[in-house]
Amino acid sequence: MTLRSLRIATIAGDGVGPEVTAEAKKAVDTAGGAFGFKSEWLDFPFGGVHYLETGEVLPDEAIQEIARCDALLLGAIGRPEVKPGILERGILLALRFYFDQYINLRPSRSLPGVGTPMPFRNFDIVVVRENTEDFYMGIGGRSDGTPLESSFPIRRGLYSGEGNLYLSFDRPMACAAQVGLATEPAVRRSTAWACDKARQRGEDRVTLASKSNALPIIYGFWEDVAADEAKKKSMALEVVNVDALCYHLCREPERYGVILTPNMFGDIVSDLLAGLAGGLGTAAGANIGDGLSMFEPVHGSAPDIAGTGRSNPVAAALSASLMLEHLGEVEAAKAIERAVLDYLSEGGDALPIELGGKATTTAAGDSIAAGIRARKG
Ligand code: NAD
Ligand code: IPM
Ligand code: MN
Repeated sequence: MTLRSLRIATIAGDGVGPEVTAEAKKAVDTAGGAFGFKSEWLDFPFGGVHYLETGEVLPDEAIQEIARCDALLLGAIGRPEVKPGILERGILLALRFYFDQYINLRPSRSLPGVGTPMPFRNFDIVVVRENTEDFYMGIGGRSDGTPLESSFPIRRGLYSGEGNLYLSFDRPMACAAQVGLATEPAVRRSTAWACDKARQRGEDRVTLASKSNALPIIYGFWEDVAADEAKKKSMALEVVNVDALCYHLCREPERYGVILTPNMFGDIVSDLLAGLAGGLGTAAGANIGDGLSMFEPVHGSAPDIAGTGRSNPVAAALSASLMLEHLGEVEAAKAIERAVLDYLSEGGDALPIELGGKATTTAAGDSIAAGIRARKG
């Protein structure tokens, strides 16, 4: 019998990205050995080093090659020497938008053996973040002296168009404006997805992170469209302003299940939840679309600890587990998840340094791989 072969693109990226991606690949290869599939890795060099050496951010040919793969595993993008936004927008966001990965799924739960700011609180939350619109559109402009005039193309999986922004004032001054966008089809599809997720989890409610008291135009629209879609899905929609939601999450996270968010709030709430769960190095994520999906930890390139062995590979390994589940290798995905949970619950010095242990990135990855092999028996 020939083994099923998965073609997986990787962009390990910057800082701790390559360190944690190596451990995620180790987990996938180990799971493949145990559960009968092969992974063919296509490694791409994009990120800060490649950009500084070549000036190249993410060429079209690479996107076309990635498109022919089954999935993309990404480490982290961003380097202190490169102006913020060039690589993050040019690689990470470009991929999310190009492949129309309209859901950013970020599960967060209390983990066995992991010390947290909230001991004795058990929570199991999934953030369903709309991943294509809001203040991430790139619509806007900056001017050294008004009036500000800016024209821009708009290209998304759902639509394309163009826009103009013109601002003038009663005095010359430097200024900048960036516009958030919400469209009905984008709000509807992410709401529908969140409702389906809640139903799969046996829940009867989705919580929407909003902020219509201060930004009634965009988030009032979100609330109206999401409420209508949730009604069609026979799902209760609870609307909470995102500031209050952050407060409640810090006190009673167990009250929440599926949290639906516009793009920017989802970014912020998912880091908050990672902190509550015990560490950014444990928080996994998936960017899901109808075409190629991309799997990556919630965290960034962590330049403050890169190269020290302190990066926790758990988030990357759990992201790889989400990837295998998405690709239909459900048993292998579960084995990685169980191996991670068993490893964490043992606690002590074997934990990653981030979680109070002494294990380097590689040692933590080895423990996870050993757990995967042991699960297969
Ligand atoms: P960050 O997530 O990289 O780091 C925040 C804090 O968490 C740091 O103290 C870091 O040491 C710690 N941390 C992160 N990952 C960890 C891990 N695996 N193990 C242990 N500790 C970990 O956020 P930042 O400092 O704001 O950003 C650094 C760079 O990463 C910037 O260039 C930013 O734009 C980029 N970034 C990229 C992504 C991505 O590629 N998905 C996500 C967020 C930030
Ligand atoms: C994330 C990151 C990105 C985002 C940045 C690097 C563009 O913070 O994936 O959480 O804001 O989505
Ligand atoms: Mn983020």
